[in-house]
Amino acid sequence: MKTAIIYKSRHGTTCKVSEMIAQKLDNGNVAVIDLTSDPEPVISVYDKIIIGGSIHVGKIQKEVQKFCQKNLRALLKKEIGLFICCMDPDENVRKLEFENAYPKILREHSKANGIMGGEFLFDKLNFIEKIAVKKVAHENKTISKLDNKAIEEFIEAVA
Ligand SMILES: Cc1cc2nc3c(=O)[nH]c(=O)nc-3n(C[C@H](O)[C@H](O)[C@H](O)COP(=O)(O)O)c2cc1C
Repeated sequence: MKTAIIYKSRHGTTCKVSEMIAQKLDNGNVAVIDLTSDPEPVISVYDKIIIGGSIHVGKIQKEVQKFCQKNLRALLKKEIGLFICCMDPDENVRKLEFENAYPKILREHSKANGIMGGEFLFDKLNFIEKIAVKKVAHENKTISKLDNKAIEEFIEAVA
């Protein structure tokens, strides 16, 4: 069974989570594909596809949305897993962000739906992002709130 993790990451956290999943899945025999460098990956060769993105101002990246829309029919014929990285402290908001990130039909077809927590990587934020994070999240330094339990459970469910 061939597996791919297809992701988009702004500052590196979704990339990190994708690599963590890849290492523990299918003996590490997993293609990890960044939509930034490969915006239209060929998915016909994969049986299992995991899609990941991160939430900024309430939304997942448009590249992830486009990828899901464009490949919807093909994805519904495969085993899939979906995840987001996000930092909202409210669980209900995080759930809503996940629901808005992926089409309902895909979420219902998915073997695992993961909300993995996230990070504020201050050295990678631009000026505007730093101000936004300070104002909205009241954080002014690098902080990691990755949810390792959610990541482990996700890996178990898609394995
Ligand atoms: C400018 C900015 C806006 C953000 N907006 C949200 C948001 O609306 N909701 C949320 O849950 N997390 C939000 N986050 C947190 C990101 O989802 C988190 O930093 C995530 O780990 C980023 O992953 P990435 O580096 O893979 O893009 C925001 C982060 C930044 C820097």
